[in-house]
Amino acid sequence: ANPAGASGEAPESLAEARREVQTCRRCDLNRDATQAVFGAGAARAALMLVGEQPGDQEDLQGLPFVGPAGRVLEGALQEAGIAREDIYLTNAVKHFKFAPRGKNRLHQKPNAGEIQACRFWLGLELGFVRPKVVVALGATALRALLERNATISSLRGTPMALENGTKLIATIHPSFLLRMPDRERAEAERQRFIEDLTAARKLA
Ligand code: URA
Repeated sequence: ANPAGASGEAPESLAEARREVQTCRRCDLNRDATQAVFGAGAARAALMLVGEQPGDQEDLQGLPFVGPAGRVLEGALQEAGIAREDIYLTNAVKHFKFAPRGKNRLHQKPNAGEIQACRFWLGLELGFVRPKVVVALGATALRALLERNATISSLRGTPMALENGTKLIATIHPSFLLRMPDRERAEAERQRFIEDLTAARKLA
């Protein structure tokens, strides 16, 4: 009744899941997006990072975090001593949700139903990669990983254990830094973000 992808069977590997997600009809977001953007990186990474959903560039290129937020993330990862090729990077929701505005496509937040529908794919990624530590980048990722609502601020700084023993670290989404008008405050937030990523690296 609720097919994984078009085949309707549960994928048995990460590679199979990556193929199947392209035919996902668990919610309606596939209708307007260019393609599904599955996770990328080391298939047996000790550290997994989860964002919200692909943005405009990610939707076009088919890879997570290759747009502006990805550049912010890349810089912070470097400063935290983390190489992108050593980690697994994915999103809570695999299709870009947007509203057309002239020539542009404006990012829209995925709703609870979309996050829940896409939890199937995130669950597969967690199951196949089996990371020691998973980082929630922002509230959408946190909601997907905990399967309930929680604020970043209430969980930040204290790693918690998920059911399977994976440690969860909650931090901000990198695009939050792009939206901060005050340069000094943004830099302070960025340093805190780097601290969270460093803590994740040390735990992994
Ligand atoms: N923002 C996200 O949450 N994920 C991406 O892949 C890009 C931007």
